[in-house]
Amino acid sequence: MIRLERNSPCWCGSGKKYKACHWKQDKQSNNMDNNERIPRSDAFVEGMRKAGKLASEGLKAVGELVKPGVSTLALNDFVHTYFTERGAICAPLNYRGFPMSICTSRNEVICHGIPSADEILQDGDIISIDVTCILDGYHGDTASTFFVGNVSPMAKKLTDVTRSCLELGIAAVRPYGYVGDIGEAIQTYAHKHHFSVVEVFVGHGIGTVFHESLQIPHYGRRGKGERLLPGMFFTIEPMINEGVKDAVIMPDKWTAKTADNKLSAQFEHTLYLSEKGVEILTK
Ligand code: MF3
Ligand code: CO
Ligand code: CO
Repeated sequence: MIRLERNSPCWCGSGKKYKACHWKQDKQSNNMDNNERIPRSDAFVEGMRKAGKLASEGLKAVGELVKPGVSTLALNDFVHTYFTERGAICAPLNYRGFPMSICTSRNEVICHGIPSADEILQDGDIISIDVTCILDGYHGDTASTFFVGNVSPMAKKLTDVTRSCLELGIAAVRPYGYVGDIGEAIQTYAHKHHFSVVEVFVGHGIGTVFHESLQIPHYGRRGKGERLLPGMFFTIEPMINEGVKDAVIMPDKWTAKTADNKLSAQFEHTLYLSEKGVEILTK
């Protein structure tokens, strides 16, 4: 990582020194520690592209298995084998004690649901499947919500709105923009449809580390928060609730449910931001 110094050329391309141009404005709007340019080697970018592609292929493949009667353990085992056969490993397994290879979050579960042989998909369920592979040391992290058989109009609407929230969040990303641009785009759309945005779980920086310190809330204000700089890799992964935004953690210490037991949906992509704009690595 290279810090953007006071005497560096300004990021805006004016040709002036940073201190004579945007420095003051940036300093007022966020923590200077975040004003970093992060040059990435071609190998790093290529590694992240490959991991992202594999993650999205794994998610798409497991999505095809979603139907009534299938256990969430079967989904877990499928993805575990899928990634293993392709030379990758499942990042969640043993991550901070997480016991399984993927997260399966059904109906009122917001995220971090633990796959189980006892949990059988029922007609009308929605299920968020979140997979993360590590390929050659690089992480690809992606999630989608799937329908089990025929779902209610509310489940359909929540899922459609959540998918759009991710798309709108991605569309708000631009080099030298702000983390808050993403949150505002997501929150505005969710609220317009009378849904709530989960605040306790956020997107994150990602690379050779699963969760980096950069946090991407799915709420916020345009122009606020950390700067989005070329060279950043991060996820956007909105969790949108039918009812209240609050989460309750179950005794297993992982499963996060909505406080009112109403539905929750989630979509996630891993992104690469360069000078040219944003690239979806898990498309
Ligand atoms: N894949 C999740 C995310 O999007 C994290 C899962 S951590 C685990 O960040 F330990 F629960 F697997
Ligand atoms: Co993630
Ligand atoms: Co994830």
